[in-house]
Amino acid sequence: MSTIAPVLTTVTVSSNASQRKKITAATFRQKKERREPITMLTAYDYPTALAEDQAGVDSILVGDSLGMVVLGYPNTLPVTMEDMIHHSKAVSRGAKFALLIGDMPFLSYQVSTQEAVRNAGRFLQEAGMDAVKLEGGRERVEAIRAIVSAGIPVMGHLGLTPQSVNQLGGFKPQGKTASAAKRLLEDAMLLEQAGCFGIVLESVPAKLAELISQKISIPTIGIGAGVGCDGQVLVTHDLLGLFDRFTPKFDKKYADFHDEMQRAFSEYIEDVQTKHFPTDAHSVMMDDKEWQALQKELDKK
Ligand code: KIV
Repeated sequence: MSTIAPVLTTVTVSSNASQRKKITAATFRQKKERREPITMLTAYDYPTALAEDQAGVDSILVGDSLGMVVLGYPNTLPVTMEDMIHHSKAVSRGAKFALLIGDMPFLSYQVSTQEAVRNAGRFLQEAGMDAVKLEGGRERVEAIRAIVSAGIPVMGHLGLTPQSVNQLGGFKPQGKTASAAKRLLEDAMLLEQAGCFGIVLESVPAKLAELISQKISIPTIGIGAGVGCDGQVLVTHDLLGLFDRFTPKFDKKYADFHDEMQRAFSEYIEDVQTKHFPTDAHSVMMDDKEWQALQKELDKK
């Protein structure tokens, strides 16, 4: 990091920050009732959380997609509680208004109900999150009930659940047959009954997601699930074009930061190699008098 004093800049905030209120799980439900689309993005660090919060996003998910888009793993399975807590802490330092949701990583809630409650609690107690998210349907009802009864808001996640990638046989759309769709609808109802305040629907047919959204009173947040959901979430690295490996069909790229980063890095390397950086403007200057005094001092010896 540079030791040169930073230039202070003012940040333009798109929505009226002074009138903004902290978003809660209750706000989610009110938004569904008012048919106002809920916006959610992932973040894994302080500057991204700050920018998203200042842009006015309703919710920030510290997703375990961290494993793929930040840590470079082939899937989300290697992500640990320690990874999630570390990144959640950074996000919570950057965001004031958005509802902050910590994604429970693989094996942090599947082994026992007790472990599920303790790990969920760590997201709130240590990392400044407001809620947690976990993957799965009927098989998670017991854990969800226990976490909710500890006072922790829980978001469910159905459809393509990446932690079950080995069981699902890859990152494939779910709920495409009548029986699979019926099971997904039942699971959504069970998660609502268990106390979830919302459900992420990932990579399921748009018609099915719309039907589920009508049948349950808690909001659905879609990713690859069509416009009939009550809200939308995207993985920020996909949206920004930062993830080099693949872009899911349902992603919309709003920028190409991978190319832009490469351009900036190449320009910097070229500038250093050709001595066009740093210039006087980037350097610490010394008073001529002091410089002459130093020369005199050195000349004496
Ligand atoms: O981990 C994640 O980013 C997610 C979103 C895709 C919903 O679970």
